[in-house]
Amino acid sequence: MQTFTKLSEMRDAAARWRAGGALAVVPTMGALHAGHISLVEAAKARADRVVAWIFVNPKQFDNPEDLKKYPRHLEADAAKLAAAGVDALYAPDPDQVYPEGFATKVTVTGLTDMLCGAHRPGHFDGVATVVTKILTQTQADFAMFGEKDYQQLQVVSRLAADLNLPVEIVPCATVREADGLALSSRNERLSPEDRAIAPALHAAMRRAVERMQAGEAPGPVIERATQEIEKAGYREVEYLELRASDGLAAMTTLDRPARLFAAAHLGPVRLIDNIAVGPAVR
Ligand code: PAF
Repeated sequence: MQTFTKLSEMRDAAARWRAGGALAVVPTMGALHAGHISLVEAAKARADRVVAWIFVNPKQFDNPEDLKKYPRHLEADAAKLAAAGVDALYAPDPDQVYPEGFATKVTVTGLTDMLCGAHRPGHFDGVATVVTKILTQTQADFAMFGEKDYQQLQVVSRLAADLNLPVEIVPCATVREADGLALSSRNERLSPEDRAIAPALHAAMRRAVERMQAGEAPGPVIERATQEIEKAGYREVEYLELRASDGLAAMTTLDRPARLFAAAHLGPVRLIDNIAVGPAVR
């Protein structure tokens, strides 16, 4: 596995590799877990060459404390990527992403007004700006994004289409622990006590989905699930909402493909999750 820290190294490799086949990028902020490795596997299945991007992007953190505490394990990450068989790790120096005088912001409207966008000011501008750079710097033919960050996936798909970026955005299924907790780099900041409580979020969401699919009205089902999550020990449910899978419009009846979205605080950690909701069976 090669390691690049400079854009010129990335560009040289991309030019060579893309002359002989397709290149896929796995965008990450490091602290890699099995979810990231599943993105690498999906990338290898699609492309001849795979590059992993690691950069803790300051522009997408609305909370300075969260940025400071975000886990960083570059050496261990490099070992995991080499074992997974990626061709290169591109961990750009900060000035390769945001050079002196950088003054551009990419904003996707509409999709970013709700859910995490409503609670984390500037977050999706930071994501959209850095993802534009990831795609233009690596010139990848495929870019892999996990459905765990489903709103991010929608935002990135919109921006790639709107800006005619020559890349296919590939959605990849969420990877979970055996007890249902969605894998996240933030999980390592949970205390053992909070880690034991954490799966209650997904469990309550699953029960809510079953109730809605059995024909119960979404409003009261969501209210009950919120209480269940807080009773289990979560400090606060930031949102628990049913929205259309395509376009994220709010839904009060199960009349088209939907997802149930959640963000909740457990100790010092903010966790998000989402699951698909099939049509109601009456
Ligand atoms: O999903 C992430 O880890 C980040 O938001 C991304 C896409 C790597 C951009 O920094």
